[in-house]
This record gives sequence, structure tokens and C-alpha cells, in this order.
Amino acid sequence: MYRDPTIRSSDITPESVYINRRAFLRGLGGVGAGLLLGACGVSQSSTELTPSSPTGNVNLRDELGDPVNTFEQITTYNNFYEFTTSKEDVARRAAGFVTRPWTVEVTGMVRQPRLFAIEDLLTMFDQEERIYRLRCVEGWSMVIPWQGFPLRKLLDLVEPTAQAQYVRFETLYDPDQMPGQRDRYFPWPYVEGLRIDEAMHDLTILSTGLYGRTLLPQNGAPLRLVVPWKYGFKSIKSIVKIELTDTMPVSLWMAVAPREYGFYANVNPEVPHPRWSQATERRIGELGRRKTLLFNGYAEQVAALYAGMDLRKHY
Ligand code: MTE
Repeated sequence: MYRDPTIRSSDITPESVYINRRAFLRGLGGVGAGLLLGACGVSQSSTELTPSSPTGNVNLRDELGDPVNTFEQITTYNNFYEFTTSKEDVARRAAGFVTRPWTVEVTGMVRQPRLFAIEDLLTMFDQEERIYRLRCVEGWSMVIPWQGFPLRKLLDLVEPTAQAQYVRFETLYDPDQMPGQRDRYFPWPYVEGLRIDEAMHDLTILSTGLYGRTLLPQNGAPLRLVVPWKYGFKSIKSIVKIELTDTMPVSLWMAVAPREYGFYANVNPEVPHPRWSQATERRIGELGRRKTLLFNGYAEQVAALYAGMDLRKHY
């Protein structure tokens, strides 16, 4: 993200998508290419790849009418720097990642600090399906059918005190399993943060799965944050610690490049990254570019959180 801003050819058409299209074309026996980008292509490859998934074979769409990305796209084109900076390689490198036993410590300015076993988090709360757009700061996006539960439900359990103004999240630190953490350039572990009202917002979820399946390592197993109106780097993976605090957390990206990555990271087509425009994006699986939407299309739900704030200043 920080070190390689150039768009490579693999970025324009990820190999997996390309192969999928080819396979689909063969299956159709010469039907026009125009069809390929519609829901047919999506459901075709999801059916192939997730035959047992309850949701893998239907025309799932987001509330704007756009089809979800395929299971394969979502699980083979990833950012997870703890494993590798190469998106197409994360799945392979993360394949053996051990996610049991796993605990999540919820601590800091709360009345009931508590260590949760992942099994508890999977059973204590109803697992809801949320179809969200994920917009990476690099300029690509996907539509993902997540399962999970609102972060608010977990925070309510631990009872934040009146002093708590922010929530700080930490990824597992384990260089033996995550070789990318040997790279001294980054201040590991990966850290992210939200203001408490952002954390309590109903759109903010902790995800435990996608496409009706348990989360795979490359997507942040066993538990990751999803904040759909912010750039994807806020959606921190493989969380082991959640801390309520009165101090604005310094995220990994703020620490690495403070002039390029701020605390808020709200998707905004009018606030360019210092080195590239954010006006458009490439939806994985599509050929052209789309216009980026303010707050990633969730302005109606979240704009009030930032009333009176200068979104250019608080980037
Ligand atoms: N979380 C951790 N711990 N490490 C990472 O490198 N990458 C972020 C985010 N969460 C990242 C992370 C970025 S830049 C994006 S775009 C999303 O994860 C990608 O999520 P996905 O691979 O599930 O699509």
C-alpha cells in the first residue's frame, strides 16, 4: 500500500478473475462477452467454487443492486501484510495459520474487562449476514457477503466508562506464523482505531465468516473488523485485543506515513490520497472504473457522525 503505489498489470486483471472468465467463457460456448460482468458470471463461479455454501449460488446483491464478488475473488485477492505484500499470494502463505485456541481481550476503560474465547464470540451473538462494499485505499473494491455481529453488542457487555472515547484494536503478533512481522519497516502489531460513536454504529461489525462459511485466514480469521464506509485498511484482521481509551489510537498506517494516512480514513472521492486520486475505483471483476461514492455509499447512515467536521482536514 505505502511502498508500491504503481498499478501493475496483475492489478488490472487479477489472474484468478482472468482464469474464471476464461473458464466461464468455455462453459458458455461463445456467448457474448458483455454478459460476463453481470450476475451470471458471479453466480456461475460461486456455484463452482462453493457448492456446499448456502449462499454461493444465488444472485446476492448489495442495496445498490450490484452483485457480490465471487468467493474466489474475495479469498484470493487480499491485503494482509503480516503474511506477504503480494495480494495474490496471501491465501497460500496464510493457509496454515492456527486460529485455535484464540482469545480476544476486551479491556481498558470498561467496567467489566473480559477475556473472550473465540467460541464464546461465535455463539453469544446472532450471526447476521451483511452485504457490504469494501473499498481499498489503493483504488479497488469488492462486494462481500459477511457474517458477523455488531461490535456494539460486544462493547455493551463490557460497559465502557464515561471516559472512553476511542476503541483501539490489535492484530495477533506472532512472527513465527506471520513472517511479514519480521519486516522491521512496520511497527507491528497492526493497530487500528475508531471513535466510540463510530464503533457503536450499527454498520460496524465484527466478522466471523463470509459466504456462509467460517472466515478463512486470508480474510482475517477468526475475527476481523468491518467498517464499510472507511477505507479497507481500517478493517483490521485477526484481532486479539480491543481496548477502550480516552486517547486517539495511532494506527499502523498513521505511524508509517502520517501525511498519507489519517485516523478517519472515510471513503471520499473528493479527498485525494497525496499520491493518487480517489475519484474512481476498479470493482474487482469489472473492466472499467466506477465513480467512488462519498462514505462508500453509506452517507445516509453515517454522515451525521461527522457533522461540522472538515473532511479534508480529518482525512
Ligand atoms: N489487517 C491486518 N492485520 N493486516 C493487513 O495488512 N490490510 C487491510 C485490512 N486489514 C490488513 C488488515 C487492507 S489495506 C484491506 S484493503 C483489507 O484488510 C482487505 O481485506 P480482505 O483481504 O479481506 O479483502
